[in-house]
Amino acid sequence: MARDILIAPSILSADFAKLGEEVRAIDEGGCDWVHVDVMDGHFVPNLTFGPCVVEAIRPHTKKVLDVHLMIDPAAPYLETFAKAGSDIITVHAEADKHLDRSLQVIKGLGKKAGVSLNPGTHESAVEHVLDKLDLILVMTVNPGFGGQQFIEAQCEKIARLRAMIGDRPIHLEVDGGVNPETAPLVTKAGADVLVAGSAVFGNGEYAGNIAAIRASAESAL
Ligand code: DX5
Ligand code: ZN
Repeated sequence: MARDILIAPSILSADFAKLGEEVRAIDEGGCDWVHVDVMDGHFVPNLTFGPCVVEAIRPHTKKVLDVHLMIDPAAPYLETFAKAGSDIITVHAEADKHLDRSLQVIKGLGKKAGVSLNPGTHESAVEHVLDKLDLILVMTVNPGFGGQQFIEAQCEKIARLRAMIGDRPIHLEVDGGVNPETAPLVTKAGADVLVAGSAVFGNGEYAGNIAAIRASAESAL
């Protein structure tokens, strides 16, 4: 197999009334990372979690907390999210006028740094910061909500980013509408980390859902 595939369930689709239990359940269900969708009601039309929630779930798993900041501005909050226990902090290219500076700040806080691209954003947005990146997150829906339909046209962008990454140790993550049907499309294009919200939490069978997405994703390699 050319690449190890990592599955990152998005707790946006979890039961917020028992978040610690939900995080433990996906951990025990075999997830690789835990994806945390932070929304500000300004950059995206929805509100979710702040750093206190990252801090609250931190003791419930030793797995990577993959924090996706859909907030504008992100820079004033990077340190708080780092101290709350994030392992990876991803900012949106569209929400940050000083991407290079923010990536340096994240790395300086001892965390892995990511940049996310909305469906309408060209891959060239990350071209000049590649050497500061640990992760590129391609949105395959317009950010803001779980349960939306996968935008297949993004697969071309994923393939171009895979070529741009070359030998660099940068994860290529995909977020939005990922399920056993769409997973092979993104791994075939070059993704190695798959975020899935509704496809993991939908029917309560977390371990089975994670395994099904992984098997389907790996079938395309
Ligand atoms: C959307 C979020 C996603 C979302 C994915 O703004 O960034 O992580 O939770 O949910 P599904 O997998 O249901 O599309
Ligand atoms: Zn996300």
